Amino acid sequence: MVLGSPSVPFVPTRKEVLDMVFEALDLREGDVLYDLGCGDGRVIMEAAKKYPIKKAVGVELREELVKDLMDRVKKENASRKVQIIHDDFFKAPISDATVVYMYLLTSVNESLKPKLRQELKPGSRVVTLDFQIPGWKPVKILGDKTGWQKTVYVYVIGISDMTNHPS
Ligand SMILES: C[S@@+](CC[C@H](N)C(=O)[O-])C[C@H]1O[C@@H](n2cnc3c(N)ncnc32)[C@H](O)[C@@H]1O
Repeated sequence: MVLGSPSVPFVPTRKEVLDMVFEALDLREGDVLYDLGCGDGRVIMEAAKKYPIKKAVGVELREELVKDLMDRVKKENASRKVQIIHDDFFKAPISDATVVYMYLLTSVNESLKPKLRQELKPGSRVVTLDFQIPGWKPVKILGDKTGWQKTVYVYVIGISDMTNHPS
């Protein structure tokens, strides 16, 4: 399969930050979590292990990461709950997501806005690390904005993406 180039480098969410990320994701029974650009899959694997979610889906373009992650899913018998999509996240369908995690870049978050708005149901949550979704209003911000991997933004479709927010 010939795919385009990744729009963001692989920089994993640090293990020390995962507690804050999971607090923001607020995963509940039946949730379907997508990590757009899932890297080595650390967020979806932990989500599938520790939370009563229905499914965790990782979308990733880099072939070597996808291969290693698929091997890990197999080794850890996680395929009932974990799905890996080797594709560009601009192309992969995400309409069954109830929660989306993105550790990308502000410019990429901006480009993903139409897709998130079109495909996600109202009430779905979008959680970003460090980089905001320009023009959308977070319902919650965790962390202290003091530097790298220090801040997590929580957005809700139907609330955060409405225009004319009083800022
Ligand atoms: C900053 S890393 C975050 C990895 C993981 N989400 C985490 O938090 O540990 C961004 C990931 O997005 C992937 N990526 C970049 N552009 C992509 C695209 N257009 N489609 C799918 N994956 C992409 C990169 O290969 C990289 O693994």
